[in-house]
Amino acid sequence: MFRHPRLQEVRDRLTAAHAVVVLTGAGISADSGVPTFRGADGLWRNFRAEDLATPEAFERDPRLVWEWYNWRRELIATKQPNEAHYALVQLEARTRNFHLITQNVDGLHRLAGSQHLHELHGNIWKVRCTSCGLVTENRDVPLSLRPHCRACSALLRPHVVWFGESLDQQTLAESVRAVESCEVMMVVGTSGLVYPAAMLMPSAQAAGAFVIEINLAPTPHSSAADLSIQGRAKEVIPLLI
Ligand code: OAD
Repeated sequence: MFRHPRLQEVRDRLTAAHAVVVLTGAGISADSGVPTFRGADGLWRNFRAEDLATPEAFERDPRLVWEWYNWRRELIATKQPNEAHYALVQLEARTRNFHLITQNVDGLHRLAGSQHLHELHGNIWKVRCTSCGLVTENRDVPLSLRPHCRACSALLRPHVVWFGESLDQQTLAESVRAVESCEVMMVVGTSGLVYPAAMLMPSAQAAGAFVIEINLAPTPHSSAADLSIQGRAKEVIPLLI
């Protein structure tokens, strides 16, 4: 059983707060078996981001990029939300003003039942037309490569944010607004290295929120957090909620 001397304090703060924000990263889905990016078996240890997750890579070799996303979709399709995803659904149900901001594209938060969800980096189960911009849901596994738009027959791309691209401005603005008006923020399973997501924790603190980090290992933000708990998301989060 996971132990930490300040779990009760966190429970009390979460119960008392009217406005709570949770920011998640790949670590929350690691407990479901989805690979992270920077850990020992992380995707960026085995693949070069610049070959697979940039607009230039897609322009150069769309089939290669689609094959990689197809492989990830096949892998994620076999995974289920875990106790941490479900505990956050419970927290949402009892909190007046709740926002879940995720960097994950795997769709597991939505599958678990989270509703006030901001997917900062997009969603691997959506595709976007490179010509007309139409975004549609697509759950085909495997996908027939290369996929084309039903409306205008141009090439489709994954509806995710690649390196060098801007985040959806509305999603980011809503996230910043939520962060700046929350009383408690929990930051779960993210290395905190990718911006602008990485600025959300300091923004919450600057606005006066109590910030709790939950991560298997220390991150560059651990010492700045009001409380940093080291542990697995699926063990720690359910104990807090
Ligand atoms: P990272 O792979 O960078 O970091 C995962 C974090 O989760 C690490 O800090 C781990 O210590 C922690 N972790 C691993 N297993 C855990 C567990 N069971 N419980 C709690 N923590 C655990 O993933 P992100 O921070 O999400 O962006 O990466 C941010 C962005 O970088 C991703 O959204 C992706 C990537 O490039 C894009 O593709 C645009």
